[in-house]
Amino acid sequence: MVNDSADFGVDTLLDVRNVKIHYPIHGGVFLRRIGEVKAVDGVSFTVKPGETLGLVGESGCGKTTMGKGVIRLVDVTDGEILFRRKNGDVVDLVGLERQAMRPVRAEIQMIFQDPYSSLNPRWSVGDIIAEPLSVHSPDMKRAERDEQVAWLLEKVGLTGEQADRYPHEFSGGQRQRVGIARALATRPRMVIADEPVSALDVSIQAQVVNLMQDLQEEFGLTYLFIAHDLSIVEHISHRIAVMYLGNIVEIGPARTLYEEPVHPYTRALLSAVPLPDPSLERPERMVLKGEVPSPLAKPSGCPFRTRCPLAEPSCAEEMPVLQAVAMDHEVACPIVLRKG
Ligand SMILES: Nc1ncnc2c1ncn2[C@@H]1O[C@H](COP(=O)(O)OP(=O)(O)O)[C@@H](O)[C@H]1O
Ligand SMILES: [Mg+2]
Repeated sequence: MVNDSADFGVDTLLDVRNVKIHYPIHGGVFLRRIGEVKAVDGVSFTVKPGETLGLVGESGCGKTTMGKGVIRLVDVTDGEILFRRKNGDVVDLVGLERQAMRPVRAEIQMIFQDPYSSLNPRWSVGDIIAEPLSVHSPDMKRAERDEQVAWLLEKVGLTGEQADRYPHEFSGGQRQRVGIARALATRPRMVIADEPVSALDVSIQAQVVNLMQDLQEEFGLTYLFIAHDLSIVEHISHRIAVMYLGNIVEIGPARTLYEEPVHPYTRALLSAVPLPDPSLERPERMVLKGEVPSPLAKPSGCPFRTRCPLAEPSCAEEMPVLQAVAMDHEVACPIVLRKG
C-alpha cells in the first residue's frame, strides 16, 4: 500500500509517474553492458475508471514496453505506477514483489497483437480461457469452470461448443475474440490492449473494436489501447497520448487531438490518416522526413527535432516538457506554444 496516496484522485484508476524503462545492451566478447535502450524515458499519464486512453506512435517508440511495464512483464527502471485495486487499496506496482503482484495481475490483463502466437496451439480454446481461472481461482470446480468458459465465449460472440476446438480452427478475428475472453476470465478492472486489431483484416478490425467497446460498457472496463495508427484509436478512445522515442509529446481528448492537433508530430501522424470525407482538406499537411532515430542514438534536446518541420537551433538544447494548452490538453513543444 502507498502511504502518500493523498494526491491520488478518487477518479483515478492508474497513475503512471515519470516512468523509465531502459533495456541493457550487452556486447563484445565478454557480453559486457555497453549501453542501454531508453525505450520509455520519463512517461506520465493517468487513466480514469471506465475510460479508454489510446497510446499511439510509430513502431519502436516504446508503446509495448510501456504496456508491459504496467503489468511488470518488463522491469521498470524508475518511476511509480500507482493502481487502485478493487478493494480500494492504492498500490505502487513498481515496488511490488512477485508474490504481491499475483493478485493484482488478475485485475490488469493484457491482450496482444498477434492472437496466434499468444495462444498455445496445443491447447483447446476452453483450456486457454480457463488457464487464468486455474491460476487465480484454484478452488473453482471443473463444472463451474466449464460454465464460465462457455459464458465467456458467448460474451465475445463465439459459442460454448467451440471450447473443444483448437486455435488453428479459428479465423484471425475469432482468435482475437478468444484472447479477449481469456483476458476477461479473471474479471479485470483494466485491460492493456497492445495493437489488438493491427494484425487483422481491415474488414474485421471494426468488429473487434466494437466488441471491445460493448464489453467495456458491460463490465465497466478501463482500457489502455495501443495502436500505431490514429484512425483506429479515434473511435474507441476518450483521450489519446502520442508517443515519440520514449516520451509523450501530446495528450488530450481524442476529438481535440484529431481535430486540432498541436504538436508537429501529431499533425504529421494525422496527415498519414486518410480522411473519411476527401472534400475536407486538412489545414496544413505535414509529411514526416526520414525514419525514427534509434533510441540508442536519441537526438539531444527534443528527440523529434531531426524530423520536425518547425525545428529551430534552440530545440537541440532542452528536452521539452508537457505544458497545458487547454483544459486536459498538454503538448511538449515550446515552438508551437510560442507561435500560438
Ligand atoms: N527486450 C528488449 N531488449 C532490448 N531492446 C528492446 C527490447 N524490447 C524492445 N526494445 C527496444 O525498445 C524500443 C521500444 O520498443 P517497443 O516498446 O516494442 O516499441 P513499440 O511497441 O512502440 O513498437 C525499440 O527500440 C526496441 O527495439
Ligand atoms: Mg509494439
